[in-house]
Amino acid sequence: MPELKRIGILTGGGDSAGINACLRAIVRRAHKEGIEVLGFRDGWRGPIEDDAVPLTPDSVSGILPQGGTILGTSRTNPFRKVQKDGGTVWEPTERVDRILQNLNKRGIDALIPIGGDDTLGVAWRLYENYGVKVVGIPQTIDNDVAGTDYCLGFHSALAVVTEALDRLHTTAQSHHRVFVVEVMGRDSGWIALLGGIAGGGDVILVPEEPFSVDEVVKGIQARLARGRTFSIIVVAEGARPVELGGKQVAQAGKVDAFGHVQLGGIGYWLADRLAERGMECRVVVLGHLQRGGIATPFDRLLATRFGVAAVEFALAGRFGVMVGLHGHEIVAIPLREALPQSPKPVDPVFLELARAIGVR
Ligand code: F6P
Repeated sequence: MPELKRIGILTGGGDSAGINACLRAIVRRAHKEGIEVLGFRDGWRGPIEDDAVPLTPDSVSGILPQGGTILGTSRTNPFRKVQKDGGTVWEPTERVDRILQNLNKRGIDALIPIGGDDTLGVAWRLYENYGVKVVGIPQTIDNDVAGTDYCLGFHSALAVVTEALDRLHTTAQSHHRVFVVEVMGRDSGWIALLGGIAGGGDVILVPEEPFSVDEVVKGIQARLARGRTFSIIVVAEGARPVELGGKQVAQAGKVDAFGHVQLGGIGYWLADRLAERGMECRVVVLGHLQRGGIATPFDRLLATRFGVAAVEFALAGRFGVMVGLHGHEIVAIPLREALPQSPKPVDPVFLELARAIGVR
């Protein structure tokens, strides 16, 4: 078994509540083995620019309940996305060499990247092609990394959506209004569907199943016929209206640092279509509120379990994996298995549940 003297950590992509609890767990578990921990700042920018800070049990003391990430994050991508022979390939840029040099210079024996499929995808390529010893931790409010039942941060985002829907119910009811609530979720409807069910949404629209304006109108009219004079429609930012040929509504010309088209606007688009049918709506875009704030107890526990397990997998020499939750158990999943299946669509069990209560 290789001896571990120093572990590197970084947090990349969209943040969420629960990351700091995870950093704390990694540092505390590593400290018990006498392993030093170095935190790279702002995702992959840290190892590219050799921007890092030592993390000790003292320096992570008190961060358990804090949202966000004390290390900062970014969507820096050391690879370039290229379309070749009808498929996507990731070509290394000179940033990859800089990562390798800096990890070597800093004496990093194992790297624990925390993030979604973009961040973990970079980790996977560094492991497969350059032998960097990585153990990933899936963290995204979108809950769309395959190989784990839940990603860190998802549960806290659900709590925000549920509370928002509870609050909107009272005003929607008083004013006899239709509300369109746009939530995050680029490619999968985990937040919209589970948050919508938990918060009592009346119509839930997810990217996995294209919807028509007609079906939304029918849903609202059916409620009116039952004397329900308000409705709450929960729509994922990546939902696909058939009227747009199943395309997503994106911010014209805007691409993020990783290379993704920036979505947003489906809520207003839908409200405009409903207004054309004589239904006046109010739109609420929950946006980054879903990523902010403190972590739920579930996420704090998951963060602690994921952090401890990541160190233990590294100690056992299990690299090229990520930690995952299967039922109650924490397991090591090869990144080569998890990533090709990501983004993970919402579990059909929840689509069935939504159908069973008539909100899908
Ligand atoms: O964290 C994932 C995510 O929430 C996506 O659902 C969303 O498209 C994206 O982040 C937006 O993040 P940002 O505005 O930080 O680029």
